[in-house]
Formats: sequence, structure tokens, C-alpha cells
Amino acid sequence: MGPRTTITPRMGFATDAIHAGQKPDPSTGAIITPIYQTSTYVQEGLGKHQGYEYARTENPTRSALEANLAALEKGVGARAFASGMAAISAVLTFVKQGDRVVVTEDLYGGTYRLFERVLTQFGIRFSYVDTSRTEEVEKAMDNDVKLVFLETPTNPILRITDLRAVSDLAHRFDARVVVDNTFMSPYFQRPLELGADLVLHSTTKYLNGHSDSIGGVVIGARQEDVEHLGFVQNAAGAILSPFDSWLLLRSTKTLALRMERHDKNARALAAFLSKHPKVQKLYYPGLPDHPGHGVAKKQMSGFGGMLSFDTGSLEAARRVLEGAKVFSLAESLGGGRKPQLPPCNDDARIHPGRRPPTVRRDGRLGSTLSRNRRRGRSRGRSATSPG
Ligand SMILES: Cc1ncc(COP(=O)(O)O)c(C=O)c1O
Repeated sequence: MGPRTTITPRMGFATDAIHAGQKPDPSTGAIITPIYQTSTYVQEGLGKHQGYEYARTENPTRSALEANLAALEKGVGARAFASGMAAISAVLTFVKQGDRVVVTEDLYGGTYRLFERVLTQFGIRFSYVDTSRTEEVEKAMDNDVKLVFLETPTNPILRITDLRAVSDLAHRFDARVVVDNTFMSPYFQRPLELGADLVLHSTTKYLNGHSDSIGGVVIGARQEDVEHLGFVQNAAGAILSPFDSWLLLRSTKTLALRMERHDKNARALAAFLSKHPKVQKLYYPGLPDHPGHGVAKKQMSGFGGMLSFDTGSLEAARRVLEGAKVFSLAESLGGGRKPQLPPCNDDARIHPGRRPPTVRRDGRLGSTLSRNRRRGRSRGRSATSPG
């Protein structure tokens, strides 16, 4: 194995998922990439090494994973981080003081918390926009915007952004486009093919799929961006461990099969919930009356495993969540144990006074329904269910 495992082969998705980035271990022939649990590498002479110097900078297990994920997202390279939030933090190093970032307004609460409570302190400005309406993005653009941060489908109400249209628009202003693709996985949506510059994941979710690791990854369309992310890995140090990298390499081998089944289950659940008299509103892009259905069909090859629904009251939501027999009441998604979660408020919530306007307007994400789930304080009135 060289300093960077090559990304080839590029065949069908399921085949790439099993093979890309992985060669038998050169020292033993082990068919599965070993966990290189080492902090450093012996040098034959001063500065004479086999491409690996120090494990914060490079690790063969992590390199194999990065090559694997780059192949699945059709990027030129990838960098793996200690969590989805660490990956998002790394992406935000593409902007500097005074720059503005246009952000999907209905997005994971932890991302909002990072932007508003950490990064605004460094003079970065954020504008939250309903990016499912391309005209709203257009209104928000000017030459100060250096990054457009998209989440599609959104967490929790599954709004869909037209990735091709928004990427073309952002590029007219020389802004980079980054897409949080956690909900779809590269199996159903590949934003780089639709014009985005960077794509990221909380690998904690579908990519891992077994609820046994926290991680994040950023995949780039351009070599210089991937090199910058490698620099940030080394400089800031929030890297994915060899063991977590190995777990993910194990997981991506079944990604295609798992995503097919998540999709099938969510379709069946949506069909059931859409007829249920007690469900007031169902959010699922696979339904023909979902406002993003047309765009979803164009840019995604499936609708994924996520849906959310409004039960009308906190009490009803609590009954659904606490009464379920197979679904566990837990944070997260994408694992086989089917966690279900009330999008409740806590430190990741969007502060009512600063809530993006369209969220206030439609009244759905008020103080009773917010992004995500923390320590069981379920003040939400809707239930979100990974298929
Ligand atoms: C869409 C999305 N992005 C990012 C994250 C953050 O990922 P992590 O928990 O791995 O830091 C989450 C976590 O739930 C998420 O749902």
C-alpha cells in the first residue's frame, strides 16, 4: 500500500462499495484491510519512510476508507473525521472572517449550533434560507457569499433542494457548494455529479449502519480542496480512528443492500401513515404531493429511509414513541435497530428569536418542534422515523 490507497476500481456501486480503496495487505496478504493501530512509523533513515510518518497525518486503514468513500461519492478524494460535526467544522475552514455562508434553514440542529454559537464568534456570517426555493437562494447571494451549505433532504422535515440549479447559481458567484448527504447516502444521491464541490456525511448514520461508531467524512470534487482538508486533519487533529475506519469499511460493503431495504420499508410505512386518521401531516419526499417530489425523483434514485410525521400534540407523539414495540426510543438513525426520535429542543435548538423566517411562518418548527433529540427532553410534537 502506498501513502494513499488508489480509488480504483470504478464498477457498479455495490461492487465499488466492496472493493474500492482496498487491496490485500501487502505485508501478509490479509484480504481485509487491517486495523493499523499505531501512532507512528519507523523510518529507514532520516526522512526515508514508506509514505506514512505519523498517524494523525496518515493511517493506512483511514486511507483505505477515504479511497472507498471517494469512489462511492464519485469524488477525487476524501478525508475522514472523528464525527459528522468535525467534518462540518473542517468544511467551514474554507471561509474566513467577514465571509457569508448561505445555509439551508431547516437543517440538523447541531450544525446550526456550531454556526451560531461557535463560528459567528470568528466573524463568519450565516444567512438561513429555504433552499428548496431556488429563487430564495438567488435573493441571498452576493459576492460576500463564499459557501452555500445545503442539507437535502433536510432534518427533520425532508425539504428537497434542487442541487443542480443551486450549484449553478452559487458558481456564478464563485461560491463553493457543500451538501450534507447524510440522509441519502451516496447510494441514492451523489451531489458531486449534480455540480456540488464538496459532499459530507455523518458516517454515524447510514454509512456505518450498525450504531457502533461516530464519524464524519468530506469528499471533494477537486484535488486542491481535498488537500486542504488533509491539511486541516493534520493541523486540527479531529481524525477518524483506525478502528472506526475499519468498522466503516466493514459497513460500506452492505450499504447498497441496506439502503434498498430502508427505502422499501419507508415506502411501506409512508403508505400506512398517509392513510392513518391520526396523522396530521406526513413529511416524505416519496409522496407525489410532497412539494419536492419532482426534484427528488430527478436527483435521487430512491427516497431513503427517513420520514417524519405530525401527531398534532406532544401527548400523542409521546404515546406513539413510548408505545412502539420494535422501534427503540433513541437518538440517531440509519442503524438496523430502528431508532425513532422526537425532534426536541435543547442546546442545539434554533432559538425562537433567531429562527429563520419561513420556519416561523409555517409554524411547524416552533418551540414545540425542533431539529433533533437530546437527552430525552422531548418537547416536540412530531415523530421522526428512520425506515
Ligand atoms: C444530517 C446530519 N448531519 C450531521 C450530523 C452530525 O453528525 P455526528 O453526530 O456524527 O457528529 C447529524 C447528526 O445527527 C445529522 O443528522
